[in-house]
Order: sequence, then C-alpha cells, then structure tokens
Amino acid sequence: MRNVVILAGGSGTRLWPLSRVDKPKQVLPLAAGNSLLRVAYDRLAGLVDPANIYVCTVAAHTDLVREQLPELGEHNIIGEPVGRDTANAVGLASAVVARHDPDAVLAIVGSDHLITPEAEFRAAIESGFELVEQRPRSLVTFGIEPTHPHTGLGYVERGAAIDGTSAYVVDRFREKPDRATAEEYLATGRFWWNSGMFVWRAETVLSVLDALLPESAARLRQVAAVWDTPQRDAELGAIYPGLRKISVDFAVMEPASQGKVDADVVVIPMPVHWLDVGSWAALAGTYEVDAEGNRHDGTALSCLLDSHDNVIVTDDPDHLIAAVGLTGHIIVHTHDVTLVCPLADGERVKDLVAQVQSDH
Ligand code: GDD
Ligand code: MG
Repeated sequence: MRNVVILAGGSGTRLWPLSRVDKPKQVLPLAAGNSLLRVAYDRLAGLVDPANIYVCTVAAHTDLVREQLPELGEHNIIGEPVGRDTANAVGLASAVVARHDPDAVLAIVGSDHLITPEAEFRAAIESGFELVEQRPRSLVTFGIEPTHPHTGLGYVERGAAIDGTSAYVVDRFREKPDRATAEEYLATGRFWWNSGMFVWRAETVLSVLDALLPESAARLRQVAAVWDTPQRDAELGAIYPGLRKISVDFAVMEPASQGKVDADVVVIPMPVHWLDVGSWAALAGTYEVDAEGNRHDGTALSCLLDSHDNVIVTDDPDHLIAAVGLTGHIIVHTHDVTLVCPLADGERVKDLVAQVQSDH
C-alpha cells in the first residue's frame, strides 16, 4: 500500500524569533496566510488515500497539528516524545506503518516547502512509487535544479540514467557541504539539490537502519511492536530520549550512496519551483520588494532612510520599524524579542538561539 508521511517535528530555529518552540514555523501563516503544514497536506490531494497520510511530529506539537489539519484521523498522527531528528522520525514512522502492512511503501515529505506547480510534484512522487514497486531495494530521492551554492541543503550527483524510468543512479549524496564544495558541485552541472523528500519501502529503510543505526532501529521496532497497546507511551518515553540525534541524510543517504548497505540510491528530477523556507533569506524571497531592494512582510510598518536590501518583519502592524543608512540586514520585531542580523549571517540565527536558550 502507498502511504505518505509528512515530517513536521522541526523547530524552525533559523526563523526565530517568529518561529518558537511552542509555535514552530510549519504552523505559522507563512504561505499566503496558510501554514506550510496545511499546504504540504493539500498538495498531496489525489496522490494517496487520505487514510494513508500520516504526520510525524513531536508530542508538544500534536495539538498545533490537529488545529491545522482537523480532518486527520487519530491514528494518523505519529507522536515522538522529543525530537531526535529525521532518521529516528523516519524509522519510527516506517516501523509503525509497516506493523500492519509489511509491503508498505512510504513517501516522506517535509512540512517546510513551497512548491509550484503542484502537479509536477505529484507526478514525480508517483514515479517514485512506481520505481520502488518495481525495484524494492531502491531509496529514491528527488532532485531540484540548484540556483546557487546553498550550504543549508543536501546535494546529489546524478550518474547513469536507469532504463525505462525517469530516475538516475546517485553517484554521491553529500549533506550540507561547505561553500567551496557547493560551488564546485554547481560548476560540474551534475548535481541537484536534495529536495528532502524520499520514497522507499518501509522494510527497506528499516533494514538499512538495522545496518547503519542498529541501536535506534532495534528500539524503534520495539516501540512499534506495542504501538496498539497501552504500553505505547511508556515505551516511547523510556527509549526516545536516549536515541542518537541524527538526520536521515547523514544516517542513511550519505552511507547508502557510498555502497555501505544493500540498497540502491536513485534520484528522480522534480522540475518545480521549490523553496525550503528554512531561513530569513529564503522566506524574504517570497515578500514584495520595493525600489530600494527592501523586503517587508505584508504587515510591517517601516520608515527607512538611505537603507537598501533589508528584510523587515514585525508581528505587530502598529509598531513602526525605523532605520537610517542600513544595508543588507534583517530586522524582526516580535512582542518580546527584536532580532537584528546581517543577511549574510542568517544561517547563524540557529547558533544564536542556542546561546539565548543557554543564557536565559
Ligand atoms: N517528526 C520529526 N521529528 N520531524 C522532524 C524532526 C524530528 O525530530 N526534525 C526535523 N523534522 C522535520 C522538519 O519539520 C522538516 O519538515 C523536515 O523534517 C526536514 O527537517 P529540516 O530540519 O528542515 O531539514 P533541513 O532543511 O535542514 O535539511 C533537509 O531538507 C533539505 C531540503 O529541504 C535535508 O534532507 C537536506 O538534504 C535537504 O536539502
Ligand atoms: Mg528544511
């Protein structure tokens, strides 16, 4: 059976202070008034039976998920007690879905993307399902044509085309390279960005996790075995905090692309306009830009003198943001925090949040 798992347990720290632990970016109205989670769900329309769409998130966010997706069945939210990154989220979701259906095929999608046209997205995922049904040891990723040497994404190097399919063998998968490496990759013309979406058989990815992350895999299977019993929460609470925090890109895709396991990493191109709304620079790309290159979110009230190429955001439409002679900065005003940061340092907001959390 075909299933989709939407990963929605991230905390969106690079969009702080708008995105907070108790109100993460995927539930904020960042997509023309809708949440990124809502649009992630809606773009699946017609792809699989809604009964087979799951959202995997952390327990603290399950109510926020339900608010955004009231139609989601009770059994379709897979809650983790705490976030242990995407390798564990994928392992848990796979083990839970496979407990009743050993042949389950999963499409894994994120909840922080803007994608157009949606029909191309669905066509690519559909090709991924077909490929995995023919070649059950495949780990399919979806490639996005890169526009710049982004250091916050994964890269896939395409190798030989696979006959009779739209897929290519992946010669290399590299998660978040440094800038010089990303520039080299772009110059070759052979690399795509990893979209962060995957298709595979649940049992294939579980067997890969057995080999590459054995302790987590064993524990996650243990939880799935008691999923339908009253022991579920106790078991989750006992094992989850101790799991090693690691993403599926580092735990599975990089080593699998190096031939370390019995699985084939392949890539299907997804010819779409795609944006990982991961940072202020990315989100600002969706804002209107004025004659001086300043970008404002819809409600920001500002008065800028001799100021160029800034990003101005406020959650209070009555609060005036004023600046003189400012270039290339982000200013984000919220009721209790104001962030000022050069746009070039936007990726470092994550480090700043870690410092704020340890200092306050
Ligand atoms: N359930 C759950 N639990 N979901 C999580 C967790 C977790 O612990 N951590 C992150 N997620 C969710 C996020 O909400 C997001 O929807 C998705 O998983 C990906 O996590 P990110 O933290 O946003 O990853 P990234 O953007 O840095 O990198 C990934 O996506 C890029 C494309 O968007 C990688 O796959 C990159 O290779 C890829 O280029
Ligand atoms: Mg992301």
